[in-house]
Amino acid sequence: LASLEVDLSSIELGSTMTVKWRGKPVFIRRQTEDDIKLANSVDVRALRDPQPNSERVKNLEWLIFIGVCSHLGCIPLPNDGDFGGWFCPCHGSHYDISGRICKGPSPYNLEVPTYTFFEENKLMIV
Ligand code: FES
Repeated sequence: LASLEVDLSSIELGSTMTVKWRGKPVFIRRQTEDDIKLANSVDVRALRDPQPNSERVKNLEWLIFIGVCSHLGCIPLPNDGDFGGWFCPCHGSHYDISGRICKGPSPYNLEVPTYTFFEENKLMIV
């Protein structure tokens, strides 16, 4: 299956780009300082699928995860929901800015794909 190379240079702070990889949407968000503070302020122990933000990112500036809801596979919306992150309108799952499930029927966080950064502003999802 193919890897995907993405040029990150056109993504502005606080905005999200969606790319297609192996038939699935992948969200790439360039985080603001406020986004990073919000992601790190969450009490991980209170989460259904406990995972610190630091385990979900390789570089704090970039959030990268597969945009497929862990409930029944709909595509969550960015900048929506009760936790300042992502909202799946199909059955009401709310994810935080780091893609961690906070409320609703989804059992797991949004999945982080395997990726690497190479050169300046280049991402490879593998
Ligand atoms: Fe997302 Fe059901 S598919 S909440």
